[in-house]
Amino acid sequence: MTRPLREDLLALPKYVPGKSPEQVAAQLGLDRAVKLASNEVAYGPLPGVPEAIGAAAASVNRYPDMGVVALKGALSQRLGVDTERITVGCGSVGLLMHLMAAIAEPGAEVVYSWRSFEAYPIAVQIAQMNSVRVPNTADHRHNLEAMAEAIGPKTKAVFVCNPNNPTGESLTAAEITAFLDKVPSDVLVVIDEAYREFVTDPDVPDGLELYGDRENVVILRTFSKAWGLAGLRAGYLIGSPDVAQTVHKIVVPFSVNSLAQAAAVAALAAEEEMRRRVDEVVQQRERVLAEARKLIDGVPGTQTNFVWLPLRDRAVEFAQLTESKAVTVRPFAGDGVRVSIGTPEENDLFLEILHTWK
Ligand SMILES: Cc1ncc(COP(=O)(O)O)c(C=O)c1O
Repeated sequence: MTRPLREDLLALPKYVPGKSPEQVAAQLGLDRAVKLASNEVAYGPLPGVPEAIGAAAASVNRYPDMGVVALKGALSQRLGVDTERITVGCGSVGLLMHLMAAIAEPGAEVVYSWRSFEAYPIAVQIAQMNSVRVPNTADHRHNLEAMAEAIGPKTKAVFVCNPNNPTGESLTAAEITAFLDKVPSDVLVVIDEAYREFVTDPDVPDGLELYGDRENVVILRTFSKAWGLAGLRAGYLIGSPDVAQTVHKIVVPFSVNSLAQAAAVAALAAEEEMRRRVDEVVQQRERVLAEARKLIDGVPGTQTNFVWLPLRDRAVEFAQLTESKAVTVRPFAGDGVRVSIGTPEENDLFLEILHTWK
């Protein structure tokens, strides 16, 4: 009997969740373990968020607002962008998948740098398009010149992850502007700014501010990182009204649940505290980066809430070492290890382990 499922999906990488800190702690017979593996912020929800979730919980017998009106309104005000250009989704990854569905055509190609965010190849393949991966430069950055050259007649979209996950490196306004000027107007450029709030280098542009008015540019952002709502799944896209409204039609109905909507509105109202926390993360990032550079060769810069250790064939071994000491990090076999920035105490613990690495 033949399977009714698509054969190409057999090769789709299966999501293998990392061990939870609870699992690691139990394995080691400890009370707790530290998770530095998923680039979350370590501080709990922003003030006002638990109360907003509590209030929204009283109405979970009702469907959420499908138009996401209050959250879109708050975003529109904050960003100075018309609501018709904003689409909110179940995480920015959810939106990326919808965007791929909106552009997919048989044989079409999507160009992106590699290594970059792991969801990209999956989103492209699910939409039955072909990935064109352009290797990062030796210093772990996008090779924008090679990416521009990789654009051909079949290219429907290009992803620019700025700053890049998992290498942490970023692109300057001059570089992105020169790149965008080479991209044909019928190719969508998706600028993924999941870590925008952690950027401190003035040369790294706010994609929305600088490129938001270009018809073929789409900006992706998320509430999962600096805004502390990874567990609720809310992200947004800003593009031309045509792109944003088309994606809106594709979004799984009611996929931004009512707790997530209320929490995101409350988080936006606590921007000052978000900034304070981000400042602390940035300070800690610079500390961890400086220490890592003393001990490991070739550690790139970072404008995110994580650090990339290019340990190549020793990446998995390093992650095993930290796990044995109750700290989980994210290894990419044969390539490197991504270490999220935690609280000062958590980073102390990580650095202690790093100092034992030989
Ligand atoms: C570059 C990048 N984009 C998007 C996301 C996911 O965002 P969300 O939680 O909104 O789906 C991540 C999360 O790790 C990421 O690193």
